[in-house]
Amino acid sequence: MPPAADQTSPGFFPAATLAALAARETARYQASNPKSAELAATLGEHWFAGAPLHWMRDWPLPFPLSVREASGARLTDVDGHAYSDFCLGDTAAMFGHSPAPVAAAIAAQASRGLATMLPGADAAWVGVELTRRFGLARWQVATTASDANRFLLRWARAATGRQKILVFDGCYHGAVDDTLVRLIDGRAQPAPGLLGQSGQGGDGTTLVVDFNDPEALAHALKANDVAAVLCEPALTNIGMVLPDPGFHATLRAVTREHGTLLLLDETHTLSCGPGGYTRAHGLDPDAIVIGKAIAGGLPCAVYGVSAALAHDMQTAWTSAPDGRTGIGTTLSANPLQFAALRANLEHMMSDDHYARMEAMAGELAAGLRGVFARHDLDWCVTQLGARCEFQACALPPRTGRAAEAAANPALERLLHLYLLNRGLVITPFHNMLLVSPATSMDAVWALLDAVDACLTEAATRDPGTLAQPPPAP
Ligand SMILES: Cc1ncc(COP(=O)(O)O)c(C=O)c1O
Repeated sequence: MPPAADQTSPGFFPAATLAALAARETARYQASNPKSAELAATLGEHWFAGAPLHWMRDWPLPFPLSVREASGARLTDVDGHAYSDFCLGDTAAMFGHSPAPVAAAIAAQASRGLATMLPGADAAWVGVELTRRFGLARWQVATTASDANRFLLRWARAATGRQKILVFDGCYHGAVDDTLVRLIDGRAQPAPGLLGQSGQGGDGTTLVVDFNDPEALAHALKANDVAAVLCEPALTNIGMVLPDPGFHATLRAVTREHGTLLLLDETHTLSCGPGGYTRAHGLDPDAIVIGKAIAGGLPCAVYGVSAALAHDMQTAWTSAPDGRTGIGTTLSANPLQFAALRANLEHMMSDDHYARMEAMAGELAAGLRGVFARHDLDWCVTQLGARCEFQACALPPRTGRAAEAAANPALERLLHLYLLNRGLVITPFHNMLLVSPATSMDAVWALLDAVDACLTEAATRDPGTLAQPPPAP
């Protein structure tokens, strides 16, 4: 049992122990994954940063784990190890990897045309279903959530004739220049780490305030010159920050009062129910964006707008001079996306699946609370439907900054590696755990046991007493 200390402080887990464990677990990973190591050597010769997407180097691994197959809630790597996957492609595979109905629909469409720039029968069905399910009147398709957010911001500016937008500190809406800002010294400044971006927030038109700060929000909107607030219903990309009771009602009222559109990015909060957070909590946004999992993992995003916003978009479009709108991409709304969208909406995003996911995530959250209590850790666990997040702070954070302050990078990196070495995958970003309809309770128990074991070892005062690495499997 660790001595009494401030459990939320990084120093609660001795730095020397964390370093010794990280070295031990890295050696274990290297010894266990010879085929991934071999492939990594080739990747390193031909791909910048040693991976086809440099984010793949964000995993706390000396070289990338190469995957042979992903199915349901399981991954198998090229060395033959099986994993229970709680990362699920950072949400893109929230309904499982290659869900059978989606895989079958994609296979059937694959020989009937991949890129036509014309709609088909599935497009009609999906349009009806999106409106029925999410309540927005008119829809468009993009290929990623980043694209959808970017396009929606352009429509919002065009429809309102205003240039400014507002986001919350700690937000993430994808590779959208306008939104990649932080609240630093009371104003929007480029988020640390950005590469190659010119200006602040794209062109300096982005305002940023704290989440759950209605006064700052009202102050920022009061000049009636902000086109839109773009936000997640709860922040999910800086740890997790839930809205205070009443925050959404205030957000809606204040945006209406100032003629500002309210755009909700439901890309992650789709975990909350078959109609997203919006339907689960009776919200009334002007538009929503859903990417990642909406087509079962196939690259696809949709955005839906209210009838009033659609009207203003139409007016802006028809009154603009002839030319390109700058909105949309060639491969968006292709037949493969519609086949996958239809199958996913029809078969995977069902009430039954959501009920199962939510119940299982509830077990996971309760189990984590039990583990932390056993370790005398005053950590909070937050659940958003199928998604859980744990944070090293006693009370759930109310702002992005508070969530960020709860991070413990050395411990988190160790935990992620420790779990991976024991057949359990969680996202390399903060402590998000997601369950799919295919996740088993056995996987949940295994995860809880492994978190428990990792914390026990991490709290060891004398690193010299740590057990030697188990033999490579
Ligand atoms: C809320 C939210 N919106 C948008 C995106 C961007 O998604 P993509 O990278 O698929 O474009 C992300 C990615 O994590 C996200 O979390």
